[in-house]
Amino acid sequence: MSTSTEIDNGLPLDMTIFGGMGDLAMRKLLPALYMAYLHGNLPASTRILSTGRQDYDRAAYLAFIEEHSRSFISGDNFNEKSWAGFLDLLVYVKVDVATAPVFDTLRDVSRDGAQRVFYLATAPSLFTMICDKLAATGLVDANARVVLEKPLGRDLASAVEINEAVGKHFAESQIYRIDHYLGKETVQNLMVLRFGNSILEPLWRAPNIASVQITVAEEVGVGSRAGFYDSAGAMRDMVQNHLMQLLCIVAMEPPTSLSPDAVRDEKLKVLRSLRRMGLADIARDTVRGQYSRGVSGNQEAKGYHEESNVPADSHTETFVALRAHIDTWRWSKVPFYLRTGKRMARRSSKIVIEFANPPFPLFPETPGGVANRLVIELQPEEAIKLQIFAKQPGSGMLMQQVALNLDLQSAFAQRRAEAYERLLIDVVRGRLTHFMRRDELEAAWEWVEPIINGWETLGEKPHAYAAGSWGPPESFALLARDGFGWVE
Ligand code: BG6
Repeated sequence: MSTSTEIDNGLPLDMTIFGGMGDLAMRKLLPALYMAYLHGNLPASTRILSTGRQDYDRAAYLAFIEEHSRSFISGDNFNEKSWAGFLDLLVYVKVDVATAPVFDTLRDVSRDGAQRVFYLATAPSLFTMICDKLAATGLVDANARVVLEKPLGRDLASAVEINEAVGKHFAESQIYRIDHYLGKETVQNLMVLRFGNSILEPLWRAPNIASVQITVAEEVGVGSRAGFYDSAGAMRDMVQNHLMQLLCIVAMEPPTSLSPDAVRDEKLKVLRSLRRMGLADIARDTVRGQYSRGVSGNQEAKGYHEESNVPADSHTETFVALRAHIDTWRWSKVPFYLRTGKRMARRSSKIVIEFANPPFPLFPETPGGVANRLVIELQPEEAIKLQIFAKQPGSGMLMQQVALNLDLQSAFAQRRAEAYERLLIDVVRGRLTHFMRRDELEAAWEWVEPIINGWETLGEKPHAYAAGSWGPPESFALLARDGFGWVE
């Protein structure tokens, strides 16, 4: 998006993936890099160095990739010849991050003068060690870039610790903190919707907007990730990053340009304007839930406690709903309702802007209320719908809700890249706009952490909700008491 910081330096690219044999590399990173390669978006002289601890020769390494990564490339995109070309870019480097004093095996294969990108797709507990050893090996130069995968901390202190450790060796302009929601076409399009259309801006504020809802509902359960998830929960896994970022884009002031700092300055202001919650606010304005047995996608689904590796007495939340306030002139008294959960009725992410009711009701009340709504559907399909009212044909003056529907899937024929592909291309080109800056990450933690601590102090268990439902009844009550309802 930004051109001012774009670096087309013509250097060969050495992209090292720490955790290169791990799940993220197999499911997301290599398929995304393959797509970037297929579409000519990697520099001509690129090498992808996958680190791992095992003793693989080239044949065994390539067999592993074939077995674990290839199936994540959709059939329409797969092409034998380009896949073979892509495999030629890959190099396996045996590195034991924990025990090697320095990364000499990596130094041996790194090219002098290459653009180095280090993608840290490992547990965050290894980030400090990796950065220190990269520097000690002499691999960090002024051109180098480092990409940090979430989770970026489990509270403010650990986020600061990671930032300090990485910041010792890399300048902020060399650090790419990934939030893959910022790579989604639909999320990037939100910026265009807001700031490319002048008709919306005068309406985009209190008192014209009565409330904002942001839902990221997942149909999947915790799957095989309970080991990580149970110690994190929905607040750390989804709200602190993805939902906060969506909130920022909905609520931010127009940036003065698309340069990374102009955009990130505005997002930071939103995070800093979020009203802090005390214990009474937490008890009143937040709802935690945990799925119990139910039916999801026409199949019986286990409850969270029955998933493997979940302790029988776990109180980890798999659902959060909350009401937030942004203390600025633009958003004075406008509630922002956020909701996310696993094993909900279906996969559906959307933002609903509910406009104020007409000052007095001229026409008879209609089912579903009288407010106009702008519904921005982010996934699984991308669509923008404006709900307005029309007269029901016939005698009388009855109103009926109708929608102006913009189906973005059919409006654009172009292929839509996956979030990781788009973000990796941004890293290669040196575009930082869609990555989180240090102060943004820390500001998000500053707001989220007291809520997590408050839950602990209050000692309440999460409310049960049946797998395949829209969450616990308490989350409906959260909106109903203000006269609103979730839009499914
Ligand atoms: C990840 C979370 O960041 O986002 C997962 O760790 C979650 O728990 C995933 O399932 C959702 O991403 P998407 O792109 O499928 O909406």
